Amino acid sequence: MGETGVPVFVALDVPDAVAARRVVEQLGDAGTHYKVGLELYLATGAGFVRELVEAGKHVFLDLKFHDIPNTVKAAVRQAAQTGAEFLTVHALGGATMLTVAQAAAQEAAQTANARREAVKLLAVTILTSHAASDLEAIGLASTDASAGVLRLAQLAADAGLHGVVCSPREVQSVRTATGLAAMVPGIRPRTATADDQRRVATPAEAVRAGASYLVVGRPVLRAQEPRKALLAIQEEVSGALAHKGE
Ligand code: C5P
Repeated sequence: MGETGVPVFVALDVPDAVAARRVVEQLGDAGTHYKVGLELYLATGAGFVRELVEAGKHVFLDLKFHDIPNTVKAAVRQAAQTGAEFLTVHALGGATMLTVAQAAAQEAAQTANARREAVKLLAVTILTSHAASDLEAIGLASTDASAGVLRLAQLAADAGLHGVVCSPREVQSVRTATGLAAMVPGIRPRTATADDQRRVATPAEAVRAGASYLVVGRPVLRAQEPRKALLAIQEEVSGALAHKGE
């Protein structure tokens, strides 16, 4: 139970290990994939990621590295040691940073007692929180957001990364242009509120658009019955996949 062709990562956007363990316990065997972001990571460190991995969970470590190549290389090596399967880096870090990060992921896998697949690197392109005025303020005035996303995704593809994080709206164009896998947040079942997400899609819409993995936070965490909410999303994903003929 809980495993589908398009895994649903539950975003553990909670402040500490106690709250995170409560979510994991509530979801039980339905919760197979989890995203750990900066908030929880800073509260609990790598120890909690290892705890999830040892419990048989798949972990997406969303720390969005963006630094000089040498620093990112060392950070990717450390992150790989946790057993996380996915890790984010900013494509804005540039081609060299991305290439070095990918090489570090592969090297770390070879030295991890030969038992691990390399941690899969996902590139963050242009943050979906950026409006045109934000891009202008950071000196990317001439950048059309969707063209910028594609250019950065191509940079990630050229560096050999596994995929990108992108909104439901961008999935189709990114996948068609680059062939990269797509980790897609901004998922809202029809019954949920949009919260602060601007570009949302239902689980089925995201799957139909070509999402490889979904990220869902509040629609599960804030549901009256989180496990039921997650199972409903997984069922919708399976239904959409069956429809696509997979
Ligand atoms: O609660 P919600 O389902 O909106 O959570 C989505 C998760 O995905 C959050 O952890 C958020 O940081 C992440 N995310 C996002 N939009 C992006 C990139 C990441 O919502 N563009």
